[in-house]
Amino acid sequence: MSLSLIVAIAKNQVIGIENKLPWYLPEDLQFFKNTTLGHPIIMGRKTWQSIGKPLPNRLNIVLTQNKLWAPYSKLHEPISYFTLNNPVPSKNSGVALANHLETVLSHFSPEEKLFLIGGASLYTYALEKDLINELIITEIHQTVEGDTFFPNWNKEQFIETTRVHNPKTESRPFSFDFVHYLRKT
Ligand SMILES: NC(=O)c1ccc[n+]([C@@H]2O[C@H](COP(=O)([O-])OP(=O)(O)OC[C@H]3O[C@@H](n4cnc5c(N)ncnc54)[C@H](OP(=O)(O)O)[C@@H]3O)[C@@H](O)[C@H]2O)c1
Repeated sequence: MSLSLIVAIAKNQVIGIENKLPWYLPEDLQFFKNTTLGHPIIMGRKTWQSIGKPLPNRLNIVLTQNKLWAPYSKLHEPISYFTLNNPVPSKNSGVALANHLETVLSHFSPEEKLFLIGGASLYTYALEKDLINELIITEIHQTVEGDTFFPNWNKEQFIETTRVHNPKTESRPFSFDFVHYLRKT
């Protein structure tokens, strides 16, 4: 099992405001979709509430410490879900709840690639525990207002493998880079 962290970060480390993304960047949303499709995605309960519905063609794993919590959609409709137990019924659809990241990871075989999609508290936890194999970061070259920040992380442990620059254009409000960092072996 490998765990990839995927995130978009502003120049001042902002990643969110009032439980939303602080920007609207369709190209980044498309990049996120292309990258994560077909893979299990893991998110914190607040990021789930921000997205408001299961992302299709991916197993949506939601972490909460509250054993009584159940997911609702943004339209306040109950969502069908299961508790993540062995064996995982589907690897590319549905909603699963779990209480521990390490337990989630233990349910997947070595060849499985999972994505940690946020938010800040889960990024912090996984980086501190050295659980991340790869970071896929959209580095946004703009300072934005926000209330949620990406944590400081130890870049020394990783090597930058690719960087794709997207310059500012008429339709692009600011420039950004898609960057991959891989854990050094
Ligand atoms: N820029 C980006 O790429 C990006 C990506 C994702 C999210 N975001 C933004 O980030 C913000 C949300 O981040 P956040 O830090 O406030 O919330 P979050 O990490 O999405 O969710 C926090 C909640 O998740 C649960 N949780 C977190 N770590 C856990 C663990 N190790 N074990 C079990 N449960 C755990 C807890 O739920 P309970 O309280 O229910 O126990 C916790 O309160 C929003 O603004 C969102 O838009 C940005």
